[in-house]
Amino acid sequence: MLNEVYYPHKELFKNPAFKNMCEYHDKVREFEKDYEGTWGKLAREKITWFRLYDKVLDESNAPFYKWFTGGKLNVSYQCIDRHLDKKKNKAAIIWEGDNGEKRVITYLELYKEVNKFANLLKEMGVKKGDRVVIYMPMIPEAAFAMLACARIGAIHSVVFGGFSAEALKDRILDAQAKVVITADGAFRKGKPYMLKPVVDKALEGVDIVEKVIVVERNNEDIEWVEGRDVSYNELIQNQSTECEPEVMDSEDPLFLLYTSGSTGKPKGVQHSQAGYILWAQLTMEWVFDIKDNDTYWCTADIGWITGHTYIVYGPLAAGATTVMFEGVLTYPDSGRAWKMIEDYRINQFYTAPTAIRLLNKIGADEPKKYDLSSLRILGTVGEPIDPAAWKWYYDVVGGGRCSIVDTWWQTETGGHMISPLPAATPIKPASATFPLPGIFAEIIDEEGNRVKPGEKGLLCITKPWPSMIRTIWGDPERFVKSYFSTAKKNGKPVYFSGDGAMYDEDGYIWITGRVDDVINVSGHRLGTAEIEAAIKKHPHVAEVAVVGKPDEITGESIFAYVVLKSTDDLGEEVELIKEINEIISKEIGNIAKVKDIAFVPGLPKTRSGKIMRRILRAIAKGEEIKQDTSTLEDPSVVEAIIAVVNSCE
Ligand code: WT7
Repeated sequence: MLNEVYYPHKELFKNPAFKNMCEYHDKVREFEKDYEGTWGKLAREKITWFRLYDKVLDESNAPFYKWFTGGKLNVSYQCIDRHLDKKKNKAAIIWEGDNGEKRVITYLELYKEVNKFANLLKEMGVKKGDRVVIYMPMIPEAAFAMLACARIGAIHSVVFGGFSAEALKDRILDAQAKVVITADGAFRKGKPYMLKPVVDKALEGVDIVEKVIVVERNNEDIEWVEGRDVSYNELIQNQSTECEPEVMDSEDPLFLLYTSGSTGKPKGVQHSQAGYILWAQLTMEWVFDIKDNDTYWCTADIGWITGHTYIVYGPLAAGATTVMFEGVLTYPDSGRAWKMIEDYRINQFYTAPTAIRLLNKIGADEPKKYDLSSLRILGTVGEPIDPAAWKWYYDVVGGGRCSIVDTWWQTETGGHMISPLPAATPIKPASATFPLPGIFAEIIDEEGNRVKPGEKGLLCITKPWPSMIRTIWGDPERFVKSYFSTAKKNGKPVYFSGDGAMYDEDGYIWITGRVDDVINVSGHRLGTAEIEAAIKKHPHVAEVAVVGKPDEITGESIFAYVVLKSTDDLGEEVELIKEINEIISKEIGNIAKVKDIAFVPGLPKTRSGKIMRRILRAIAKGEEIKQDTSTLEDPSVVEAIIAVVNSCE
């Protein structure tokens, strides 16, 4: 924990939402005094309602909270139509392809594209409430597809393009999707890669999907399934550029996004309309200080919540110009990101610590070769950032001038929860600082007592908030169990994030990472249970436990302890590692591949059969085992495991 404090360069901020910490505290107090009134006021100001809501917050069926009930709106209208009066020729999306190709889409063009796509979806039989899976590369059509769903009230479920056919199939089936939108493929590091064949594989034996809409992006050869597959490029030509926005209820679902939990299969996090879009827009204003002439760039993929809220919905609701990038930040060289910032005069740049560490490692002086003077705010998200990466980001990328917003949030929270306010908050490197006004994020113990400075506790959100997860698709019990069964405050279950955190003496929040069995690799969230289930599919594997191991670039990497059915199999270790990783890429995707495997004689289990992962985590880190191992069923197994791990290194 560094105790240096960095003050905002106020001259960079003309008219920020919060000029200083007094204004921050005033707003927090306003929420404390009148929670519903304050949210209601913001919702009336920020949302273009077709019909105003009746009630701000309905807690009658907690923790299934409802916000702005009785209100009617359309999220695509909020993101597009209402800007047309003043901004029809303003760039809504600036897209840059892997090979440097550029497209600028104005708000008027976005309006037309989204309406055409919405009409195409209707032609394909999609109706309000139907689920549409979007498996797309980072091309503007992906954003059009999301907004087209929103326009007609279909629920989209974007699946990250790096997930395998199996993972895609699971998500299609869980959501019971009627239509899949994909592309033939796209480009990465100068080469074409394919998506459509993955969809074909995912749909083998699946009969619920009626249509697959294929955007032809890289024009590689693909197979077309008659009666099922249609070409977007062909059918979009005949669509009308007008499509009435569906009148949606505040609480109708807007989208599902699958994310990993500590147990079982990924869960379909369900978000709704009004609360989500309100917070997406507000945080663009509060945290990114988005102004009319700004050009804003978030490097995430639309397959993650960051891409949903901070590439598509938030920036467009705020009427901003959002940059969308198909390629990778290190191609053709480590200056790509800095060149794009220079070319587009980017004002806010938002990326992940893993990218910052990588760019620092491979090109520490590279940013100095470009004109980055347009930057005002640098954002980071996805995992804890270490002070060294933070300092490089601040000094070299930000020129010692920009505010760094270390934003803590999750798929489930919809938008930022804890973050500095760029013109107000004195920043301590690598601390997410304070909860945003309206967000009652607190570090507590299980009974709801606030922990003392320096003590680790559970990071909870003790009041409902508008953009919160509404439920897990099709599994309300799991929703309650996953989020509302760990901690209570004043006898009432509160939202537990799964993260541990600490306060320092000044009340700053320091996130220490997941306390559950979730691993964070390059900001991608993976459940140990899913990875273990995949590894167990190998015929030689008897038992397996995976843990996260600290990694210089990716934050954490996956370390697997594998017990083989017979030690005779040990001869072919190298082959086995390869085979196990092949299974993982087939079942989940390359992002879940294991970096280390130790073939061990057994796993440390309690007498009731629970695997003591804490011990395995310590061994992976090379730490001394401080824990009492006498309660284990077979304490000697720990030494045997240590011996194996040491011999591997
Ligand atoms: C988990 C949520 C939120 C968009 C990207 C990830 C970790 C997120 C931070 C941060 C420390 C962070 C947490 C959280 N995390 N932001 N600024 N500092 N940790 O979304 O896949 O739902 O993952 O990412 O562990 O629980 P996600």
